[in-house]
Amino acid sequence: MASYITHLLCILLLLLSTTLSQHSPPQSQFPPNRPLTAWTSLILAHHGERRPLLTHPTNPSLNPLGALQAHSSGSLMRRRYLTGPSAHNTSFVPLHGFHRNYIDNQRVHVLSAPEQPVVASAWAFLQGLYPPVDAPAAVGGSPKAGGGGWLAPLGGYQYGRVETAGGGDWNHIWVAGSDRCGLHALSTAAQINSSEYINTTQTSEGFFKSLVPGVFAGVVPEMMVSYHNAPQLYEYAAYATLHNSSVAATLPAAALARLRALAGMRGWGVHGVRRGSGGDSEEDGVLKPIAGRTFAERVLYLLSRATTSERPGELNLLFSSSAPFVGFSAISGLADHDARFKGVVEPGSMMVFEVFSHTDPEAGRPGKEDLWVRFLYRNGTAEGARLVGYPLFGRGRGKGDMQFEEFEKEMREVGKGVGEWCEVCGGGQVFCPTFLEGLERGRKEEGKGKNGKNGGGDGGGGKKKKKGTTALELGLGLGAAGFVVLLGVAVMVFCSRRQRRQRRREVKDKVDGWEMGDRGAKEEVGERSEADYGDGGVRDGDEDEEGVEPMREPVRVEDRV
Ligand SMILES: *[C@@H]1O[C@H](CO)[C@@H](O)[C@H](O)[C@H]1NC(C)=O
Ligand SMILES: *[C@@H]1O[C@H](CO)[C@@H](O)[C@H](O)[C@H]1NC(C)=O
Ligand SMILES: *[C@@H]1O[C@H](CO)[C@@H](O)[C@H](O)[C@H]1NC(C)=O
Ligand SMILES: *[C@@H]1O[C@H](CO)[C@@H](O)[C@H](O)[C@H]1NC(C)=O
Ligand SMILES: *[C@@H]1O[C@H](CO)[C@@H](O)[C@H](O)[C@H]1NC(C)=O
Repeated sequence: MASYITHLLCILLLLLSTTLSQHSPPQSQFPPNRPLTAWTSLILAHHGERRPLLTHPTNPSLNPLGALQAHSSGSLMRRRYLTGPSAHNTSFVPLHGFHRNYIDNQRVHVLSAPEQPVVASAWAFLQGLYPPVDAPAAVGGSPKAGGGGWLAPLGGYQYGRVETAGGGDWNHIWVAGSDRCGLHALSTAAQINSSEYINTTQTSEGFFKSLVPGVFAGVVPEMMVSYHNAPQLYEYAAYATLHNSSVAATLPAAALARLRALAGMRGWGVHGVRRGSGGDSEEDGVLKPIAGRTFAERVLYLLSRATTSERPGELNLLFSSSAPFVGFSAISGLADHDARFKGVVEPGSMMVFEVFSHTDPEAGRPGKEDLWVRFLYRNGTAEGARLVGYPLFGRGRGKGDMQFEEFEKEMREVGKGVGEWCEVCGGGQVFCPTFLEGLERGRKEEGKGKNGKNGGGDGGGGKKKKKGTTALELGLGLGAAGFVVLLGVAVMVFCSRRQRRQRRREVKDKVDGWEMGDRGAKEEVGERSEADYGDGGVRDGDEDEEGVEPMREPVRVEDRV
């Protein structure tokens, strides 16, 4: 019996040593499935479906389907950050220190553009995130003298704080940087002189005419049915396909898809950037995606708060229309990586930025050098729409996670603060003179442009502790690998000698059993065997993540996001 056990131990040791050598640095920089802790997050959510602008130009309010979409986004994030468990649409990534049932208005920050469908989407989203609950006094409930308590309306509705920014408030630019931007309006008007616009208008003329009888007759004057209005026409057609039986019966899916492509192209012409020959000038490359640039500035500012002070982690929710989505796709390399980001933004879509670490959460939030950022996207709200990770800034497939410092550097490149917005847009807002003055002064003092930002991050790059593989670490790693190989050889020799003496058949069966069970052990060993994920965060898991983009492949469990 004793030899039996030694035999098994031999086999185990052998397997351990081989897996150890496989997982020792530098081959595997960043093992999959290492537990991570999310510290802070920012979500940009597109409003849900509204009544079409074409038929309701003055009051395109959120409709019940739109509310359901926004609510679905909120409940998905609830599952991800607060309750779990993992599902096909998201994994469980607990947001550190957040209560799963009671909203903490000091930590959940909401900023919305002022239009009704956007604000209403924010409320519906919050309801999905923190549904009604009978709250005890300690967390905002209302006890009654003598026992019992009062329950808020609608079964304990929780009232968050939704900030809306419009009019002369400069916070408006974080969610709608192209609105009220004078030069952007001019550049949009100038689109009609671009050769792409002229060509596409010509080539699509017949197509638009063909849609008039079945879809647009009696809804808009025929002369309006052209490429020029493609986004609004598509919005109406998509809406009518869902809500109007006669349109649903007559409009072929292929026609709707073509309309969608034309709408996306037109939107990209206004808020995106055309590269290459015949593309946009450098100035237009700054101006056209301005909504993405101001949004990027805000993302960096809000996420940096989690790294620079003793502030608790936050959940930042921003609600907008399409412009920041398209603009950010243009400046972040997202659309270069995946051309689908040049298309129409589905109602209820989300961009998510997560700051996390692989450190022990009990030890508190780590310094900036141990923080990572990942970007996720949810395309629309359809059943099966999942959160999918994408790499930003031209990082290749499988490099979705980036170190905070790297993220910061890239975002600082593309972002624009209030002063810069005023400059790019040609001023015109009441708050501009002050900010422009500040920008001017900042530039004089700092010498170069980038430091004169306002409303943005903490300015300086600070002391950067480079976390990479030092020669010593490398030496140790190789040394360890060498040791492991030697150990493996020794074990092999030792065991094979024993094996010759051991002839019992059942042992072999057991061996097979052990080998089957080895998978799990292998992964655990991999997790514990090293701690260096310093340069770039190469993770084996990302490839999978990338491979399971929506619409390309059947749904697969996406558990690494
Ligand atoms: C996500 O998936 C779970 C489990 O399949 C499902 O119950 C939930 O409704 C889904 N959430 C959304 C918002 O689709
Ligand atoms: C388009 O080009 C014409 C002629 O070159 C010019 O007169 C017109 O102002 C341009 N339109 C816009 C909106 O820039
Ligand atoms: C528009 O058409 C002209 C002539 O057919 C062509 O030379 C030009 O490259 C086209 N431009 C675009 C942006 O497709
Ligand atoms: C359905 O669409 C047709 C064609 O666009 C339109 O004439 C009709 O009024 C619509 N019906 C409703 C109930 O909106
Ligand atoms: C989102 O989904 C639609 C289809 O529902 C697809 O046409 C589009 O390309 C997708 N966009 C992205 C960015 O994946």
